[in-house]
Amino acid sequence: DNNLKFIQVETDENIGTIRLNRPEVLNALNRKMVNEIVRTIENMEKDEKVNVIVLYGNGKAFAAGADISEMANDAAIDLELLNQFADWDRLLQIKKPIIGAVHGFALGGGFELALACDLLFAAEDAKFGFPEINLAVMPGAGGTQRLTKLMGKTKALEWLWSGEMMTAVEAEQHGIINKRFPKELVIEETINYAKKIAEKPALSVRFIKEAVYKAIDNSLLEGMQYERKNFSLLFSTEDQKEGMKAFVEKRKPQFKGR
Ligand code: CAA
Repeated sequence: DNNLKFIQVETDENIGTIRLNRPEVLNALNRKMVNEIVRTIENMEKDEKVNVIVLYGNGKAFAAGADISEMANDAAIDLELLNQFADWDRLLQIKKPIIGAVHGFALGGGFELALACDLLFAAEDAKFGFPEINLAVMPGAGGTQRLTKLMGKTKALEWLWSGEMMTAVEAEQHGIINKRFPKELVIEETINYAKKIAEKPALSVRFIKEAVYKAIDNSLLEGMQYERKNFSLLFSTEDQKEGMKAFVEKRKPQFKGR
């Protein structure tokens, strides 16, 4: 895709990397940029050479939010007709793992993009928050929903109403990030982790992701039945035969991703 203006994209060793690249405005997300991110992730979803998708920001920040200057003068009807946040819904269809590495600010739409990742690693200097309240608006790309599902309504309301920024330590305590790293190591460590997952049998990785997200929105029984179907389905893969055979033969399995 040669028409990417606001992101940089690379594929190497089964890792697809997306770097947000508007550092002069702390990677503020304009509509075109969100569309580029989502389009690229969809392309990576179809790309056999990509097993894991990694996302991070160039410059001082992950992303300081939606581009305020772009929407400042919009009318409600413009927003409704534009349906600008519809791109974000497409991320819910992605079955490959998406891992974010956050350094500096992840605010507003930037925090929402971080929360759309399956796993998050953060630098010690990371700052997460929803400052929309101070602009007399509110999150519009999933922030109220994802934050509440992660930390419960009591804590979510506290952060959303105050607009304050949480530190990497607080984000870890609230279960928003997986792990903290010194700033200079966070991207390297994230890519190392991504490489480990990229070597796992890809269909197991995929079906586990699907099943875990089922747990968020469904009853326990529905979720368990869904899990069981995926479990059974994995017995149709070459990797399952190879994985169990290698165990019995006491050797390392050679997975193919099918
Ligand atoms: N939109 C547009 N431009 C932005 C931006 C944003 N969200 N965030 C930062 N910028 C720009 C600044 O205007 C500035 O540009 P100039 O150099 O041309 O003045 C440049 O990025 C650098 O920013 P600062 O000089 O402000 O840097 P700082 O270190 O002093 O402050 C900050 C950093 C506290 C993050 C501050 O930039 C800030 O408060 N940004 C806005 C954060 C925000 O309100 N985000 C929510 C947006 S609304 C939203 O996201 C809705 C949604 O749910 C989708």
